[in-house]
Amino acid sequence: MTDAPALVDVPDPLEVGDDVDDRPVLVVDFGAQYAQLIARRVRECRVFSELLPHDTPVDELRARDPRALILSGGPASVYEPGAPALDPALLELGVPVLGICYGMQALTLALGGEVARTGRAEFGKTALETAEGSLLFSDTPADQTCWMSHNDSVVRPPDGFRITGSSPGAPVAAMEAAERGIHAVQFHPEVAHTPYGADVLKNFLFGVVDAPATWTATQVIEEQVARIRAQVGSARVLCALSGGVDSAVAALLVHRAVGDQLTCVFVDHGFLRAGEAEQVVETFAGHFEVPLVHVQAQERFLSLLEGVTDPEEKRRRIGETFIRVFEEEAVKLDGIRYLVQGTLYSDVIESGSRTAAKIKSHHNVGGLPEDIDFELVEPLRLLFKDEVRRVGIELGLPERMVWRQPFPGPGLAIRIIGEVTEERLEAVRHADAVLQDEIRKAGWYRKLWQSFAVLPAVRSVGVMGDSRTYAYPVVIRAVTSEDAMTADWARLPYDLLEVISSRIINEVPNVNRVVLDISSKPPGTIEWE
Ligand code: XMP
Repeated sequence: MTDAPALVDVPDPLEVGDDVDDRPVLVVDFGAQYAQLIARRVRECRVFSELLPHDTPVDELRARDPRALILSGGPASVYEPGAPALDPALLELGVPVLGICYGMQALTLALGGEVARTGRAEFGKTALETAEGSLLFSDTPADQTCWMSHNDSVVRPPDGFRITGSSPGAPVAAMEAAERGIHAVQFHPEVAHTPYGADVLKNFLFGVVDAPATWTATQVIEEQVARIRAQVGSARVLCALSGGVDSAVAALLVHRAVGDQLTCVFVDHGFLRAGEAEQVVETFAGHFEVPLVHVQAQERFLSLLEGVTDPEEKRRRIGETFIRVFEEEAVKLDGIRYLVQGTLYSDVIESGSRTAAKIKSHHNVGGLPEDIDFELVEPLRLLFKDEVRRVGIELGLPERMVWRQPFPGPGLAIRIIGEVTEERLEAVRHADAVLQDEIRKAGWYRKLWQSFAVLPAVRSVGVMGDSRTYAYPVVIRAVTSEDAMTADWARLPYDLLEVISSRIINEVPNVNRVVLDISSKPPGTIEWE
């Protein structure tokens, strides 16, 4: 299919298709906060899973040839006007079904049982008593704890169902029609607060469904390599590297598939952290021998920001110029038809479905110039972030890149509050390097969503030796978070803060003070600009 040199011994796409049984477990999303989490949990069991909206037509679901269905929870009451209903035809696909919370109630109604608002809502940790002989609760204690979040309850299961679990507020907390392969639980097995939740999901996947545990990084790589080869044939492919894990893994997958047909472009805007640009070049051009264009545009970007203090204006200029620089390079690499994008599965699920107020414009620096005429190659489209990391490790990407904390496209430019100058850039980069070093040494790096230094362009008076100083402060920002939508300031140990503070003040020229940001998000955002 390709005349590129074969880099690795990867089977032909057709062979892969024959070997690999990737029928998905489909999670039917009834609007639950946790629907994505269900799909992730299933994949953690090495079973391929995808999420589909509840109003997906049954024929479309059938066409996906699912191995099983999981009906998610949802915020509505089944009796509310407009509440999402379950098409009974879904239960006739002949595959096992697991209903969770709202999913249990929806399937109860669809099969002629009864759901009611009993006045016995349950939220949080709840005692659960399970019946003997239920496959779903195999190898779990009869009395266990689960995590509930419901107002309505099933009060009469559909005909043919056996009650397999009950809680103080929900006499029907679990039920099954085992011979039809239909199981349902009122609690949430996907959340960590349900101690045996993972066992319940495993029992469903491997006991009820008998799914093969084949969704591994190795398989993902094989499948994607085959798909990429089938998509691009012998054409040339372009990829913008940002230094982040997504574009790095996407590039390596494409490189493994089509070798030197890939050219990577790394636009160095000069706002990266210490050592990052060197690492990208060493890893890609050096270690993996990927054809790499390293565009040194540091001066262009710095002069672009002369006199600019407004955060949005900084973002706008950087984003726009980034695209221009990238376009200029693309034009030079005449004849390239494909562009690699590091789109993740969570982007695919969420795109278009959420409308949030604009707090700041996240120019997708390192992303796609919208008006360029390329076909997209998106090898991460099916992967969650943690899976991207696993694939990265399997492909041999250095741990430091695989586990890099999120870093904004405009980089250090939006961590200098005020005009960006070379002196300030130098100071914030140096302070950040010290901070990262100490955070890593103390074993905190992977516990934090992000940790970084901010340099507000104000100066204060200090004393060093016997002399007066008049220099910048550095702010330490360290947060924990699940998804960056909310964040809490990290409770770093005082001893660690002390070392960071004293090293920054002693080692970084033009800095005489270190302060700690103890704001959560909201009301603060994670970045200062
Ligand atoms: P805020 O500051 O809005 O940031 O709480 C939320 C998350 O987004 C990252 N961030 C960006 N990422 N381009 C990016 O790719 C950007 O322009 C950008 N701005 C902020 C930020 O680091 C945090 O993880």
